[in-house]
Amino acid sequence: MEFPVQTANPAKAETACLVVPVFKDADLLPTAAKLDDASERLIGQLIERGDFSADLGKVLLVPFAPGLNAERLLLVGLGEATKCNEAALRKALDAAFAQLSSLPVDDAAVAFTDVPVADRDSHWKARMTAEAALRAGYRFGDFKSKPAPKPRLERVTLLVSEADDAAAAAEGARIGAAIGEGINLTRQLGNLPGNVCTPRYLAERAEQLAAASGGALTTEILDEAALEALGAHSLLSVGRGSEQPSRLIVMKYQGADDPDEAPHVLVGKGITFDTGGISLKPGEAMDEMKFDMCGAASVFGTAQAILAIRPKLNLVFVVAAAENMPDGRATKPGDIIKTLKGLTVEVLNTDAEGRLVLCDALTYVERFRPASVVDIATLTGACIIGLGHHATGLLSNDDDLALDLLDAGETAWDRAWHLPLWDEYQEQLDSNFADLANIGGRPAGTITAACFLSRFADQFPWAHLDIAGTAWTSGKQKGASGRPVGLLTQYLLDREVEGQIEEGDTAA
Ligand code: BES
Ligand code: MN
Ligand code: ZN
Repeated sequence: MEFPVQTANPAKAETACLVVPVFKDADLLPTAAKLDDASERLIGQLIERGDFSADLGKVLLVPFAPGLNAERLLLVGLGEATKCNEAALRKALDAAFAQLSSLPVDDAAVAFTDVPVADRDSHWKARMTAEAALRAGYRFGDFKSKPAPKPRLERVTLLVSEADDAAAAAEGARIGAAIGEGINLTRQLGNLPGNVCTPRYLAERAEQLAAASGGALTTEILDEAALEALGAHSLLSVGRGSEQPSRLIVMKYQGADDPDEAPHVLVGKGITFDTGGISLKPGEAMDEMKFDMCGAASVFGTAQAILAIRPKLNLVFVVAAAENMPDGRATKPGDIIKTLKGLTVEVLNTDAEGRLVLCDALTYVERFRPASVVDIATLTGACIIGLGHHATGLLSNDDDLALDLLDAGETAWDRAWHLPLWDEYQEQLDSNFADLANIGGRPAGTITAACFLSRFADQFPWAHLDIAGTAWTSGKQKGASGRPVGLLTQYLLDREVEGQIEEGDTAA
């Protein structure tokens, strides 16, 4: 999708649909006011007559636009001006692009950079606009005999009232579009059924991403023989009951001027289906355990966003992929396995499998001497109980890293919440028979899962994102959300800026 920026008179904009955000109880915003003047007060009259309430998220399509060069007008309610914040703008954007996606239009011109949100500039608003436009265009129709037609929208002109903001808006849209595409890749991989999206399928997708990158991304795939030779018995123990062989997928992006600059590493949980294994899950909603690879999917989505943006950073993207099935050869409760690190684990519950694949991946990435490691995982049902479906759980062995991730989540509006990783919780993992157990009992299940991972993350600043509550939506709207691609991409882009500031300091 394209996002040209236009600063000229919006009444002259030639477009199939002009999209105009409107407050409930305040004066028209600058672009809306110009359009109102040019159209014999069409907008003002629709509001005065009560035809349009401007409630947040409400839209009104006006199928003609007298005095304007647009074929249609779409009014979008912003609600009350005093309550306008990031969430309100996002809700209005989503409503506008949902409507646009249902119209027979290829292009639209939108005036969202006018909307005042405290501490958010045109760059940010353009970015949110582009991301929303891409998210709204995503459909998962691959398995329908008669898929619904794809939305036609392919060009969204950003109407910017201050000429000085044009460059910032264009750059914001570039970032937003890259993140939007990344989010949609993550949703696509997440939505694919478990009989298609297997560990081998994910490995193939990594190879495709690398092949399409013109050399910017390289892959290495470790198959079961390689993992065996390495000693990654914990990762292998999870896929033991499956017909689908496990994989460790490694993708490298070398964008920094210095090839030896320490990389930032993302590690995704890629359980392509989680039955629970011998500790079998109940049947209800078990289909949703196809989403248990959404951490891995977010690593792919972030890698794709990075390939579109091309920051000067060294990065490693890792996916630990396996299918957790019950079988005669499956790992059983009480089995003791040896991890790549050498620590032994008593598997008290085979349904706590995410940590078993991630721990070996964390040990594997020590070899890169990372500047930071962030793992992303649909790790615990307890995270849904604690934080619901809005905040991603964040735990870390490094408070600076935790703050960087919280900040990135605020910027991307893909937010996380910091939970304690205090030593006191560690003893819940004590085992009578091995170095540690893979479960810590009912109290603080999200924290003890992170405690388990922390034992394998002592060589670098590390953080864990538990996306069990945020990676997908259940119910009628069932589908992967694409979170936390926004947070992760922002986190990495912030590292590039941080590096430039440090470089500037040394030069001065
Ligand atoms: N993938 C699940 C966690 C999950 C469950 C995410 C439901 C989203 C929705 C994970 O592998 C799991 O089963 N965790 C167990 C851990 C327990 C056995 C300590 C859980 O949360 O019940
Ligand atoms: Mn499980
Ligand atoms: Zn799982």
